[in-house]
Amino acid sequence: MTELSTNQAFIDLEDQVAAHNYSPLPVVVEHAEGIHVTDVEGNTYIDALSGYSALNFGHRHPGLVQAAKDQLDRSTLTSRAFHNDQLGPFCEALARLVGKDMILPMNTGAEAVETALKIARKWAYQVKGVADGQAEIIVMDGNFHGRTTTIISFSDDPEAHDHYGPSTPGFVAVPYGDLAAIEAAITDNTAAVLVEPIQGEQGVMIPQEGFLPGLRQLCTDRNVLMIADEIQSGLGRTGTSLACEYEGVEADMYTLGKALGGGIVPVSAVAADADVMNVITPGTHGSTFGGNPLAAAVGKAVVDLLLTGEHQAHAKQLEGVFAEELGKLVGHGAEAVRVRGLWAGIDIDPELMTGKEACKALAKKGVLAKDTHGSTIRLAPPLTITEDELRQVTDTLASVLAEARG
Ligand SMILES: Cc1ncc(COP(=O)(O)O)c(C=O)c1O
Repeated sequence: MTELSTNQAFIDLEDQVAAHNYSPLPVVVEHAEGIHVTDVEGNTYIDALSGYSALNFGHRHPGLVQAAKDQLDRSTLTSRAFHNDQLGPFCEALARLVGKDMILPMNTGAEAVETALKIARKWAYQVKGVADGQAEIIVMDGNFHGRTTTIISFSDDPEAHDHYGPSTPGFVAVPYGDLAAIEAAITDNTAAVLVEPIQGEQGVMIPQEGFLPGLRQLCTDRNVLMIADEIQSGLGRTGTSLACEYEGVEADMYTLGKALGGGIVPVSAVAADADVMNVITPGTHGSTFGGNPLAAAVGKAVVDLLLTGEHQAHAKQLEGVFAEELGKLVGHGAEAVRVRGLWAGIDIDPELMTGKEACKALAKKGVLAKDTHGSTIRLAPPLTITEDELRQVTDTLASVLAEARG
């Protein structure tokens, strides 16, 4: 084995032996704490991506690390063939946080979405009375719900979708935010509408005010389940526990993930009331690792952090500064900015630079961010960031754009 010490040496090794399913920035993280990461050459950066919101509480949050360490010394995996003493308390706390009766724990976000789709179809057959095999689920253009074959069947992103067919049938796509199109797409066979309250991967696309309440009403009126995928938008990111709360909307099912594992272990979940969740019976769905005691202990510690409301309040409080500072960039290298809580999408003037170029320039100045769809970049710093540190992020972006404009 060769001795590795530079960023480039690790990158070259990865290139040879790890599949090329990502195109990361040339930063090799060795150490991470709070909002900061340090690479193998000793350069330190502010992590303004937070693992796509999986690190809402920063890297190695002491309380979450302690919960994991404590549980590592007790038990880590039982499988669901037996009970464990962590699952019940975790589900009880999470159900309370999101206002639902029951939780079905899984591991990754995509698994939670798959689970919600299965529950919705089964609910359609067993409760609504749709003929077996006929259930339809309405999805949004521009969606991102994960990478399984069924989920990418209804993705309109060619990179995610192409050459993985045949597609899973039973999905109908409509323009995001278009209530009339959803209404027109609903039939007697419609089981559910699956929606991201804010489309993160699409570039933090925030629907028009009134869309989510309108969708809620439509789903109620037409006996269709509203499934809100809060995997990226949820758990404090937008200044509330769930992004749906911003407009006072309660979905029938939530999918949660990312931050639920505290950046330590993969933890995801579906939350629903008993009348929906109870279509799942013993043997009809499961996962070897879903609900394992280590995941449940960390998940419970995450929920306990959120139950104080302090992280949501902090995100809400900093939203003003974030929006104001990013707003100043419009017309000065940025074409548009969208901000909710500590989550922002910035459309860079494509004449100036691509999103990827902007992210490389930001990294050189000590800020890590992620591009999406050509010229958009996303900022989602840990919710533990201070106002000064947040200004450091926005100032750095301002200087990158100013330099590019010359
Ligand atoms: C809204 C949404 N749903 C689902 C997923 C998939 O989660 P995972 O990558 O953990 O499978 C993501 C990941 O980015 C997401 O943003």
